[in-house]
Amino acid sequence: MAFSLLSSIPLALFTFMLIVGLSKAQQIGTATRHYKFHIRRANVTRLCHTKSIVTVNGQYPGPKIVAREGDRVIVEVFNHVKDNVTLHWHGVRQLRSGWADGPAYVTQCPIQTGRSYAYNFTIAGQRGTLWWHAHISWLRATLYGPIIILPKLGVPYPFAKPYKEVPMVFGEWWNADTEAVINQALNTGGGPNVSDAYTINGLPGPLYNCSSKDTFKLKVKPGKTYLLRIINAALNDELFFSIANHTLTTVDVDAVYVKPFDSDTILISPGQTTNVLLRTKPVGPSATYLMAARPYATGQGTFDNSTTAGLLEYQNDHNKSIKKLPLFKPTLPSINDTSFATKFTNKLRSLATEKFPANVPQSIDEHLYFTVGLGSNPCPKNQTCQGPNGTKFAASVNNVSFTMPTTALLQAHYFGQSNGVYRPDFPVNPLHYFNYTGTPPNNTLVGKGTKLMALRFNTSVELVMQDTSILGAESHPLHLHGYNFFVVGQGFGNYDPSKDQAHFNLVDPVERNTVGVPPGGWVAIRFRADNPGVWFMHCHLEVHTSWGLKMAWLVLDGELPNQKLPPPPADLPKC
Ligand code: C2O
Repeated sequence: MAFSLLSSIPLALFTFMLIVGLSKAQQIGTATRHYKFHIRRANVTRLCHTKSIVTVNGQYPGPKIVAREGDRVIVEVFNHVKDNVTLHWHGVRQLRSGWADGPAYVTQCPIQTGRSYAYNFTIAGQRGTLWWHAHISWLRATLYGPIIILPKLGVPYPFAKPYKEVPMVFGEWWNADTEAVINQALNTGGGPNVSDAYTINGLPGPLYNCSSKDTFKLKVKPGKTYLLRIINAALNDELFFSIANHTLTTVDVDAVYVKPFDSDTILISPGQTTNVLLRTKPVGPSATYLMAARPYATGQGTFDNSTTAGLLEYQNDHNKSIKKLPLFKPTLPSINDTSFATKFTNKLRSLATEKFPANVPQSIDEHLYFTVGLGSNPCPKNQTCQGPNGTKFAASVNNVSFTMPTTALLQAHYFGQSNGVYRPDFPVNPLHYFNYTGTPPNNTLVGKGTKLMALRFNTSVELVMQDTSILGAESHPLHLHGYNFFVVGQGFGNYDPSKDQAHFNLVDPVERNTVGVPPGGWVAIRFRADNPGVWFMHCHLEVHTSWGLKMAWLVLDGELPNQKLPPPPADLPKC
């Protein structure tokens, strides 16, 4: 009897552990989310123009990915189109999974026609909204969609649970083929043709010709809270957004919670995501409300000055015919309202609580200072160019206009084959001092190269990005792959460490992956280089990236096994 009891206990324990072991993922609430993305063409009609666009699974905008914090996501991408394709999971930290990040020729060679690649990564320490998009040429014009990151199972939001959650993705529509638009611009050296419309979830809305049936409608109930997951997937434009007679409470940006604050209008730059709470009126009013987005533009170039709109409609039992209701329209800031932009971005603060701390690096190993802005390349002989003074448009970081390699940087690094691909000698400062924001110099030419900024593992970095006025001061939304950073300061004119550093916020600065460098000003960010790999950084105005406003960081492995980048997956595409 004693014998059998003793022996049965370990057996029961063993069986119990076996079950627990098998379902460990379910026990702690994590799961693997599997998606199949077929890249194929589809005909889409907007503004009475039908064109063939590159899509995922025939959908425009693309399908949404839903995951919980801690989940593994596997997206198998099959390329059925002529174009080379890669996809990027914008804002996903990709901790030690740099092979899944996606920028073409940076972390991977493109997926060629008839080939596939499985992006495999875990979402850790992030909750909110991010998005995915193509990361080669201008294919992201039509290849994009939301990534919804829910908190871990049983963990509430740090705000009242919304009644409903609605993704709202802003995009940009061209009647012409966008690959032709950018190729023509790069050939002539001039600015690309501007878009024909902005869109909300792929729909331009009633303010464009031949478009009223393509209008996004948000049907709401009175007295409820809605969580709008707003994404700016437009190519070249920062956007103001507002809903008539309603207030928006910003609660999360770039998948990091912020201290909630109210505003009638939000500013959102390409690459950024903003979660806002919308409280509907307690009693269903007999009215319809327009919501609208239009650009915040500071540069000298031409841009699409149009407005996309959608409708907020209350579902009341008594109002059957919405068409007869009065329509209220929002007032948006003027197109170049930098003072609004500054006030808005200054309101963004990390929660900085015990549960959601702001781990701002307090001591800095590397102080870096990068100028960002436009410039020009000489016009090739026997050609006439349409850029400034007969040159070609270019753009640079510390006067280096980044040249894309023909093989992927991460592979070159990992296999010790960097020779002739890149040099780890990106300048830590501008090579020549000039009054960056004053009267522009006569010489606007940029240098060229494939230069990387190398960092030892765990380096704490402070980077000041300084706009230049070389071809006109302009706001640049800079995006860093593989990291979030803290925005510790911003200002106008030339950055002056002796004055400006004293005003840095090292307590509750906003943490994000894309930040606007103010026009004619600077922004200071801090981050810890704790994720080994090659990480792209670029202006998320796609035309500026095309012109060379991009560079890459090389973060070396640390000493410990869990501080090293694992080998690439077997199906990593070849160039
Ligand atoms: Cu959302 Cu490198 O981009």
